[in-house]
Amino acid sequence: METDSGLPREVNASRANDARLCDFALGGKDNFAADRTAALKLADALEEARYLLSEWHRFRARALEALLDAGVRQFLDLGCGMPVRDNVHDIVHAMAPQARVVYVDIDAVAVTHFLALLSSKVPAATAVQADVRDPEGVLGHPEVAARLDLDRPIGILLIAVLHLIGDEDAPDGVVAGYREAMAPGSHLVYSDLSGEEQPAERVATYLRIGDEIGIPVTMRGRTRASQFFTGLDLLEPGLVSAPDWRPSGPFRPPTRWLLGGVGRKP
Ligand SMILES: C[S@@+](CC[C@H](N)C(=O)[O-])C[C@H]1O[C@@H](n2cnc3c(N)ncnc32)[C@H](O)[C@@H]1O
Repeated sequence: METDSGLPREVNASRANDARLCDFALGGKDNFAADRTAALKLADALEEARYLLSEWHRFRARALEALLDAGVRQFLDLGCGMPVRDNVHDIVHAMAPQARVVYVDIDAVAVTHFLALLSSKVPAATAVQADVRDPEGVLGHPEVAARLDLDRPIGILLIAVLHLIGDEDAPDGVVAGYREAMAPGSHLVYSDLSGEEQPAERVATYLRIGDEIGIPVTMRGRTRASQFFTGLDLLEPGLVSAPDWRPSGPFRPPTRWLLGGVGRKP
């Protein structure tokens, strides 16, 4: 149901939202004043924050190439955010036009934008609104079950989303739910914020701003994040600063805020 503003009731335009904040940071127009204020507040305090999304998306592109080379032809992008220029389906369809892609986000606006982009134009891909913290619910969602065959290798992407899931929501159990459902040969692609290589005061600044803008984050270091790969073989070079994961060309110096890695289920 819509409100007087024309927005669905569950959309609160007066509060910053991570999907729309990222949209603004990437030069998009599908965001509100609260999202723009929040993004600028972060970038004002931590200048390099403006490069995080490009680090994430470049890492994602290289990881997807590795999965395609390994023969993976179906992908589940958890916490997909808003559509961008090079979405997962754009990257994988350039090499494998029949590959299946399902986008998942808890945010109705992000899902609506993906559906508008995909419906009737990209039959091999769709988007569903669901909570990543509920692996059974996500994997059992009719659209997911209809498109993805869990008896065959799948690529599951958890990029820039687990740091939005605090320890009180038991992220290890969440990730285990996906890992256990994956067939051998499947891959888990992970990247998140990590303050491990940052001075303590900059980490404190990031965490404080996250709380102030209403998007609290939980940063996990390498040892902690390695637990998400339990039972998987970490592909070379392991869990590293995301720009250092199989770098493909010259890039600005890494911000060292992001960890990234890919695990394969034996
Ligand atoms: C920083 S954005 C990352 C988007 C995308 N993965 C990327 O790399 O650009 C995080 C996204 O996770 C979504 N999200 C946060 N918590 C979620 C949850 N519990 N279930 C599903 N999506 C969630 C947010 O709505 C947001 O769109």
